[in-house]
Amino acid sequence: MSIEVIRTPAKLRERAFSLRGTGSRIALVPTMGALHEGHLSLLRKARPLCDTLIMSIFVNPTQFAAGEDLDRYPRDESTDLALATECGVDIAFCPTPRDMYPEGYQTRITLPKLAAPMCGAKRPGHFDGVATVVSKLFNAALPHLAVFGEKDFQQLAILRQLNADLDFGIEILGGAIVREADGLALSSRNVYLSAEERKQAPRLQQGLQAAAQRFAEGVTDASVLLSAARAIVGSAPLAQIEYLELRSAKTLEDVREVTEPSLIAVAARFGNTRLIDNLVLVP
Ligand code: PAJ
Repeated sequence: MSIEVIRTPAKLRERAFSLRGTGSRIALVPTMGALHEGHLSLLRKARPLCDTLIMSIFVNPTQFAAGEDLDRYPRDESTDLALATECGVDIAFCPTPRDMYPEGYQTRITLPKLAAPMCGAKRPGHFDGVATVVSKLFNAALPHLAVFGEKDFQQLAILRQLNADLDFGIEILGGAIVREADGLALSSRNVYLSAEERKQAPRLQQGLQAAAQRFAEGVTDASVLLSAARAIVGSAPLAQIEYLELRSAKTLEDVREVTEPSLIAVAARFGNTRLIDNLVLVP
């Protein structure tokens, strides 16, 4: 059966409403397209857990700050639809910015605490845009469950909180980070990297692994663990570190000592390309 493409929130909602009426269990996997194995792993996770699998493809303008890569973000709808079909997606939701934000649109959703540190501090307004568009996607697709990648750990934490705060009642699942053979986390932005940048990019993951190694040896002091990571990431001449931090995996508050599951997260620029990675240390 071929994939069904729906382009407006109103039409998707109508479809989802009637699917729910027939008892169909709906899963939603939101994406911005340029699909890679990371996205596909989320589709494969959702597929056996639902009757109707909906994937959205929408490069959401409101989560890009001025000067970011909105205009050059890779877009290839026909390839994405072919990959989605292979992974058993039933409905692809592919709206235009106008469909999602018609003339006069004004609502924004803010999570002042969870969105404050890390990527939120470096990308003003980014998580407002994410929280708002995902709320709109939830309202259009009416899913029973939704799957998001742990690569964007802060995003996942924010969306879990949003789901609880606004009573969406959706089951939110996380999907493990999918990596290249050399450890680089898959990202739609990896295509921007020059050959030399691509060679150095795995240092992000290697830095996190160095901290995990020290942690496995019994080190729990955050500053020691961060120094171990910084030594490796900083040894990539083309990497400009934006942040490298250790925070509670639950609240994203700073931790000095790893006594609870803790997120070690890094963001770095390689030229104009911003890459992120993370790992959770569990005592
Ligand atoms: P996008 O960057 O396209 O990612 C879509 C989903 O794929 C997110 O849940 C993300 O965490 C997950 N993902 C990306 N790379 C991954 C990897 N290497 N391993 C596992 N999962 C990975 O994140 C967004 O889009 C947007 O912010 C969105 C949620 C769609 C809202 O616009």
